[in-house]
Amino acid sequence: MDYRRTYVRDLLSLKPGAKTAAFGWVKTRRDSKGISFVQLSDGSGQKDLQVVIPEGSIPDTISSQLTTGACVRFDGEIVESPAAGQPVELRADGCEVYGPADPAAYPLQKKGASWEFLREIAHLRPRGNTFGAVFRLRNAAAFAIHEFFQSRGFLYVQTPIITASDAEGAGALFAVSTLLEAHGQGYKLQSPDPAQDFFGKPAYLTVSGQLEAECLALALTNVYTFGPTFRAENSNSSRHLAEFWMIEPEMAFCDLEGNMNLAEEFVREVIGKLLERCGPDLDFFNLRIEPELLATLRHVVESPFERLPYTEAIKMLEASGEAFEYSVHWGCDLQSEHERWLTEKKVGRPVILTDYPKEIKAFYMRANDDGKTVRAMDVLAPRIGEIVGGSQREERLDKIEARITEMGLPMEAYGWYLDLRRFGSAPHSGFGLGFERLMMYVTGMKNIRDVIPFYRTPGSAEF
Ligand code: 4AD
Ligand code: MG
Repeated sequence: MDYRRTYVRDLLSLKPGAKTAAFGWVKTRRDSKGISFVQLSDGSGQKDLQVVIPEGSIPDTISSQLTTGACVRFDGEIVESPAAGQPVELRADGCEVYGPADPAAYPLQKKGASWEFLREIAHLRPRGNTFGAVFRLRNAAAFAIHEFFQSRGFLYVQTPIITASDAEGAGALFAVSTLLEAHGQGYKLQSPDPAQDFFGKPAYLTVSGQLEAECLALALTNVYTFGPTFRAENSNSSRHLAEFWMIEPEMAFCDLEGNMNLAEEFVREVIGKLLERCGPDLDFFNLRIEPELLATLRHVVESPFERLPYTEAIKMLEASGEAFEYSVHWGCDLQSEHERWLTEKKVGRPVILTDYPKEIKAFYMRANDDGKTVRAMDVLAPRIGEIVGGSQREERLDKIEARITEMGLPMEAYGWYLDLRRFGSAPHSGFGLGFERLMMYVTGMKNIRDVIPFYRTPGSAEF
């Protein structure tokens, strides 16, 4: 056996008469007049291979094991398929079962299992149609993202996962410590003193690679990260994960305008590539998950995003006459109901909101001359709300020091970050795109737990 097997996807375009082998998992099996029909999937594409097993062509002891979930190899010949839906099928004359799956126990049997149930079997759900399509799209999106930046001369940089600084200054951190020892069913704290800890000081899983990406941008000009990010927000929403993937470009010699231009090109180009390359999977989501999906995605690729200062958006929300759960006033943080009203009802396509009040944004954003707002930008998308968060960075040493003090953040923890403003500072900007939020947008899936193979949320770290 060799990895150079033919994928099911490619078997479907072989000419009748080809002798071949097909490897995969049985999705369904049906018998009619002594002939068995098996739908075989190896995850390589949206379409399964239909395998026809003529009466007597394989021993009963093997045939009886061809049930949903079993892993098998069929040998046979590609023949024209009389049935609609596929040009060819495989007529089997041999079969080996690698791993049977007891029909009485295999959990992924019935069609129409709930999303909640499928989350409990996240180790098996990739074998289903929907999750196969999600993970193929995720792969295609990751590839398109690298292509987007590489074709523009951005360097892919790797920033640390363990860090001593809180990049967002928001305190939603997971601590990384060796002072906590496994002890029976619980933990034992060796010492409460961070000086005794592995790094000699408190350390955390990163909430963003931005601060380190800034160091690299102020040397290499245009860079991007694409890595895991951790937030200990105790939020059980359908849009938040404790572990998610973020893409963070950072650009020297770039202001908010340039940053918005990049974010918009980025989202539109990546979606455009998926429309070009992932037709069958997107058709599936359009049919089964979100009826407006393809129309929406095409619309996004074709039309420019609306750009709007926060202050204008607040006025629109106040004048909307909608009964929001959270009331709106200048200075409030927008809730997803507000973001969705703006993009879905008011504008009808993605919106970039800019110039937010400084109180609701991170310490590193560049101050505007009004003393009240900062050069922030969030891209809001219909159905999802915030998909991108970014800003022009405060490159002036005195201003950023004043802001850190004003916010009560520990100045000493940001010493190296301030050095960037001490030595060869430059105007610069960047943003973060939540990869899973993008995947929700392009698949139409309603819960962020269903667009990542293994989700981490409060109370869930199985698998
Ligand atoms: O707006 P955020 O917090 O921005 C930053 O972290 C900046 N340091 C990025 C930068 O400028 N380099 O997060 C960026 C994006 C959000 O817009 C959202 O798409 C996603 O990351 N995100 C999450 N996705 C899933 N689960 C969570 N808990 C998320 N928190 C943020
Ligand atoms: Mg944000």
